[in-house]
Parts: sequence; C-alpha cells; structure tokens
Amino acid sequence: MKFLVLGSAAGGGFPQWNCNCDNCKRARAGDPSAKSRSQSSLAVSADGENWFLLNASPDLRDQIAKTPALHPKTGKRHSPIQGAVLTNADVDHIGGLLTLRESQELNIYATPRVQGVLRQNSLFNILNPDFVARFDMHVEQDFELTNADGSLSGLLITVFPVPGKVALYLEDESAGPNFGTLPEDTVGLKITEIGREVVAYYLPGCASMPDSLSERIRSADLVFFDGTTWTDDEMLMMEVGHKTGQRMGHMSMSGEDGSIAAFADLDIGQRIFIHINNTNPVLLDDSPQRREAESAGWQIGFDCMEIYL
Ligand code: MLT
Ligand code: MN
Ligand code: ZN
Repeated sequence: MKFLVLGSAAGGGFPQWNCNCDNCKRARAGDPSAKSRSQSSLAVSADGENWFLLNASPDLRDQIAKTPALHPKTGKRHSPIQGAVLTNADVDHIGGLLTLRESQELNIYATPRVQGVLRQNSLFNILNPDFVARFDMHVEQDFELTNADGSLSGLLITVFPVPGKVALYLEDESAGPNFGTLPEDTVGLKITEIGREVVAYYLPGCASMPDSLSERIRSADLVFFDGTTWTDDEMLMMEVGHKTGQRMGHMSMSGEDGSIAAFADLDIGQRIFIHINNTNPVLLDDSPQRREAESAGWQIGFDCMEIYL
C-alpha cells in the first residue's frame, strides 16, 4: 500500500492568501525553513496504478500536476484517479471535486450526510452523473473501494465517527449542541489492503481522543492525524482570528489533552501530522515545537511525502 501526501496544510493552506502572520510571511518570502504547503488531501493505492483521493482539496489541480503517479497514462483521456473518499464536507475537503469534472469516470464515497450536502449544492452537479457514481459509506461497515471500471481496488475501508463538528458553512446555532453536528459529519478511515496485515488510519479532523478511539487505533502501523494547531488559542494569540482549535473541531498537538500526549502509549508504527494550520509553529523546521513533536516520535507531513506500508 502506498500513500502520497498531496496537501499537508489545513484549510487556507500555507501561506494563506490573506494571512500576514509571521509563519505566513516567512513562507511567502521563500524561507527554506517555512516550506509552503497546499490544502488537506492524500492519495492511496494498493497497486501503484489505481489511486483514490482521500479528500479533494481546492488545490487539487496543482497537486495532480506535481504528482506524476496521478498523470494520464494511456489514450487521449485517462486518469489513474479512480475516485475520492470524503471524511467531511469542509471546503478544504470537497472543493477539489470541482476540478474532477470533464466527464471522467470516478466513484465518490462519503457518508449519507456528506452526500446530502453535495446533492444540495447544485454546483457539484458539474460532476456528470453519467460518469461519476456516488456511494454511501455507512459507519462500521467494511467495504472495498471499487475502481471506476468496476474492478476491485484491493483497498478495504472502515468508516467510523470521530469527535468533530459540522462544516463551518452548515453551522446552525439553533440546532442544539455543537451547531447541529451529527456523528456522520466527521469520520475517520481505517485503510487496509486485502490479503495483508498492515493497518493505516486517516483522521484529518478530530476534536478529542476518547478511550474508544485510542483503543481503536492502538498498535496501528500508520496514523495520519489532525495537526491543525499546536495550542488551542494560537489563532487568538497571533491575532489572526477569534476561534480556538476546539471551536473549529480540532484537538491541539501540545498539552495534557493534546494529541502528542494522547498517542504517547499507543504503540503506533508511524504517526504523521497532516491538516496543519498556517499558525502552527511546527510548520517551521527550526522551531522548538518542531523538535518537541519529532522527539515524541511524530513526523510533520509535507507535500509530496510518500509512505510505503
Ligand atoms: C476546518 O478544518 O476547521 C475547516 O476546514 C475550516 C474551514 O472550513 O475553513
Ligand atoms: Mn479543514
Ligand atoms: Zn498565517
């Protein structure tokens, strides 16, 4: 099984178009210790030929251009991309679907809740239903991803709810706690390969680590995890926003309730932060926070990172 990190930043990317924080300034100035990162997406393949996007970011066109494995291989129209698996309906995770128009056969996998969001936004009808099939993913039900031609991919997925929040543009103050969030609004993926023992997880959005979740991922070979913020209040402290990480549905890396502490005893093979916000100091190669995360056994995801499992 092979994973490609197409985009390692959170929504907005790094640098973010309107952000003048010190991190973004350094990235914009081309500082080699503040490498630019595009928005949140991975690609996964069992055979190295047929690929599935794990979320489709607004930067997808450029991400494909930078990734030879995803270039057309045969004939006049072709793509190794067989489909996309969505973990929520955030803009940074569905905006790239609009790049996948042009009557190319594809399979789009999402929970019924997220499929409903796509259906209600007529812009997504640009994905011609004669070519693009949409499949509901039901929580806790294993299924094998199907290539666009109907053949089996060899990749097995299990979807499970994780603590999180409905997409920002769907927040409804009147809908009760957590803005009307339902369990299907944010899911994690377990990804395995038929006939092999290796287990990977993809959790780009996760607001906390209940015991049920830490027991689920314990001893996994690979976990890609929500790396949005280092501290919960960093956007306020840097005066670039008024929201905490928690308010956005993300747990921080540092602190007693942070992900670094939560993973400390989970015996995970490789743990990689992705979906990293532009305010997070781990983005800087020379920061003490980067050293702290790495000495705790974490890798900081970067665009074009390749992981073989
Ligand atoms: C998030 O991960 O919190 C969202 O992508 C925020 C957004 O939609 O900008
Ligand atoms: Mn996001
Ligand atoms: Zn910034």
